[in-house]
Formats: sequence, structure tokens, C-alpha cells
Amino acid sequence: MSRDPSVDSRISAEDIRRRKGGVPIVCLTAYTYPVARLLDPHVDLLLVGDSVAMVLHGHATTLGASLEMMIAHGQAVMRGSAKACVVVDMPAGSYEASPVQAVASAMRIVGETGCQAVKLEGGVDMAAQIAAIVAEGIPVMGHIGLQPQSVEKDGGYKIKGRTDDNIAALLRDAEAVEKAGAFSVVIEGTMEAVAAKLTRHIPIPTIGIGASADCDGQILVTDDMVGMTIDRVPKFVKEYADLRGVIANAAARYAAEVRSRAFPGPDHVFTTTSGKDEP
Ligand code: KIV
Repeated sequence: MSRDPSVDSRISAEDIRRRKGGVPIVCLTAYTYPVARLLDPHVDLLLVGDSVAMVLHGHATTLGASLEMMIAHGQAVMRGSAKACVVVDMPAGSYEASPVQAVASAMRIVGETGCQAVKLEGGVDMAAQIAAIVAEGIPVMGHIGLQPQSVEKDGGYKIKGRTDDNIAALLRDAEAVEKAGAFSVVIEGTMEAVAAKLTRHIPIPTIGIGASADCDGQILVTDDMVGMTIDRVPKFVKEYADLRGVIANAAARYAAEVRSRAFPGPDHVFTTTSGKDEP
């Protein structure tokens, strides 16, 4: 997408931070150039989520994402968008070991994609990593509640905030992420009332997924939202289209026309010697 790099009209991480308590912040995932182009006019924030490992690459969990994968998809989304704040996920294994490792990985992601911010999973346990990245001038989005990168450690995808102890831990996580300097935080798979309480408790925007309409914004995986998910659609997803049906129907009609030689028709072949029908 052609844009004048001297005029950066993108929504910044700071713009998102200022939206606390205001009109809800609209976020979706994007992994590719065409999807970024289609979504950019409608959203405030595009997340190049590590869910790309599952959605596009067929891995069983997000643990299949690599730094190289995230950077390649981040570059495509930056090329396809001009307005949205683009946030790229830090994949598992690229930041947990130490603040030094986290800074090196975040610098690679921002340096090689030009994205506005990075996102990482964790609360109290990752506060030092968040603070170190922010100290280098890179905005960070936190991610608390259900953390897909911990699915093996947790023994599955478990909804958070069902016990008093866990609610207290979530409050500590939200506070730690905010105090470390994050500009916003994703709250995933968390009891509705708890997500609403966390939103009231911290001064940065919360972005809900399987959380609460009271969050400061919402995010969904775009493929889920447009009805492209083949295997299991999570309870918190609302499908706004049926792309599974559209694609299956188009493929069936194409197959029938190829087999009957109805395709290609006269409009889809080249017949003049003058060159007037160049594609
Ligand atoms: O990877 C991802 O898509 C995410 C969102 C679901 C928040 O982290």
C-alpha cells in the first residue's frame, strides 16, 4: 500500500492509551496484506497475533510461532495498513528468559516491521520484561487472564477468575503490567464480572476477548469473526459472516465448471492477434 512515510497518520500506542473509558477501542487480528487492507479502515488496532501459528500454519497451539514468522506477518500487515495501530505478538521463547532477551526480541520486531508496539503474555512474572522494553522506547501491550502460551503448563484452556485467590492474582497482574508501563492490556478468557472489575481498577485500557462488554475495547481473531474457523469455534466468538460456506460453494462451482469445460469461457481466454485483450 503506498503511503508517504514522512506523514505518519497512524494511530499510536499513546492514542490508544488516551482512549481509557471512552468510545470502545476496535481491535482485530491480521496476518496478511489483503486482510490488513480490508480491515484497516474499520479498526483502531490490528494485532499480528501469535494465533497465526494455529490459524494460518496449522499448529496445535500458539507455541508453534517463531520470531521470524511474527516478523514476516508483521511486515505484510504494515504494508497493507495505513491507519491502524499495529501491534505484533512476541512469540513464546522470545522474551521469558530475561529482560535482556525481551529487549533484543522486541527491537528486532519493531526494527524489521516498523510496527507501533509489541504484545507479550504475563503479569507479575513478566513485569521486568515489560519495564525493560518500555525503557527502550517501545510501547508494550500486556496480556493477562487466559494466556494461550501457557496452555501446556495450565493443562488446557481454563477460564480465569473463578476463585477468590485467582481474582486476587489477576488484580496483582493487572497492576503489575500497568506499573511496568504497558499502554493497554488484553484480558482473555476471564469471568465477566472480574474483567469488568479489572477494567475499573487500572488506568490503562483493557481489551477484552471472552471477557466483558465493560472492557475499554474488544478483540477477536478475524478468522473466527468471519466464519473461517474449521474445527472448533470458541463460545466467546460471534460469527459475522460465513466464509467457510462462501469458499466451499465457490470451490464446488469451479470444480463442476472445470469438469464440464464451462470454465474457462470466451471472456477468460485470449483470441485476438492485435493485443487488445491484454490482461
Ligand atoms: O494471538 C492472538 O490472536 C491474541 C489475541 C487472541 C488477543 O493474542
